[in-house]
Amino acid sequence: MHDDLVAAFDLSDRVAVITGAASGIGRATAVTLAQAGASVVLADVNADGMGDTGGELEELGASWSAVPTDVSDKAAVDALVAGAVSRHGRLDIMVNNAGIITDSLIVDTTPDQLDRVMNVNLKGVYWGTAAAGRAMAEQRSGSIVNLSSAGADMPAPMISVYALTKAAVKMITRTAAVEMAPIRVNAVAPGSIETPIYDRHFRGEDGRVDPERQRNHFDTIAQMNPLGFVGHPNDIAYAVLYLCSDAGRFVTGQTLRPNGGVVMPL
Ligand SMILES: NC(=O)c1ccc[n+]([C@@H]2O[C@H](COP(=O)([O-])OP(=O)(O)OC[C@H]3O[C@@H](n4cnc5c(N)ncnc54)[C@H](O)[C@@H]3O)[C@@H](O)[C@H]2O)c1
Repeated sequence: MHDDLVAAFDLSDRVAVITGAASGIGRATAVTLAQAGASVVLADVNADGMGDTGGELEELGASWSAVPTDVSDKAAVDALVAGAVSRHGRLDIMVNNAGIITDSLIVDTTPDQLDRVMNVNLKGVYWGTAAAGRAMAEQRSGSIVNLSSAGADMPAPMISVYALTKAAVKMITRTAAVEMAPIRVNAVAPGSIETPIYDRHFRGEDGRVDPERQRNHFDTIAQMNPLGFVGHPNDIAYAVLYLCSDAGRFVTGQTLRPNGGVVMPL
């Protein structure tokens, strides 16, 4: 146990893999963990976006690398983790953040929609947890953080597929926490955070984001939680930092909910 607050959050000499690190919450998490001293390995299907995240890490003088990875592919996830261990000699933190969403009523959902979202959100987290758990077992230490969602606890029309995968993430997390201790495994379930995941709602016919529709959308969803604002990606990155640093050393199998109070499960 640290007496010093800064030491409790310090990630110097730790190695972190972050999936979905080309955008939004994944990018903010990569930057935050690097600010805390970690070497970060970015993983995403979007190589250009990872390059932009890398630019921010470069400015910090952080140690970083980027590995194009489709998290729904078990072999690719195994190779991602093996590569991080071979490059750095260890893996301390795995953030299974990559995620996608689809909008459809249950009665209209196609097999392709179900498969696509389950492959990324559910299998991606499952294979990421498995690969990290194997790598961390030899060290008998490490922290895995999986991204769930407030949507897992709030039945809402159109997002059945997304919500069921995010509910599954909480169960994968709890089972892994029991199986893998002393490795700690936790979930973070954000409320609405301003990231490109919402762009689908305000793209015009030319494919461009309409800033006015974007502003109106976020103003509307801000009113859905008691705090009355939409979160910033750092609101989630700081929760991840808590869970994967020594500050969170007594926390495992839990779901942390930075969500503005939009849902308050017992
Ligand atoms: N933004 C929110 O309001 C919110 C709320 C709750 C939960 N979440 C969750 O947080 C996580 C990050 O979301 P975000 O808002 O930053 O979204 P985002 O769209 O900005 O980023 C998601 C990233 O995942 C990557 N990705 C997609 N499919 C992938 C695959 N097969 N393999 C590897 N990478 C892949 C994308 O390229 C993208 O860089 C997701 O799991 C999301 O469900 C977000």
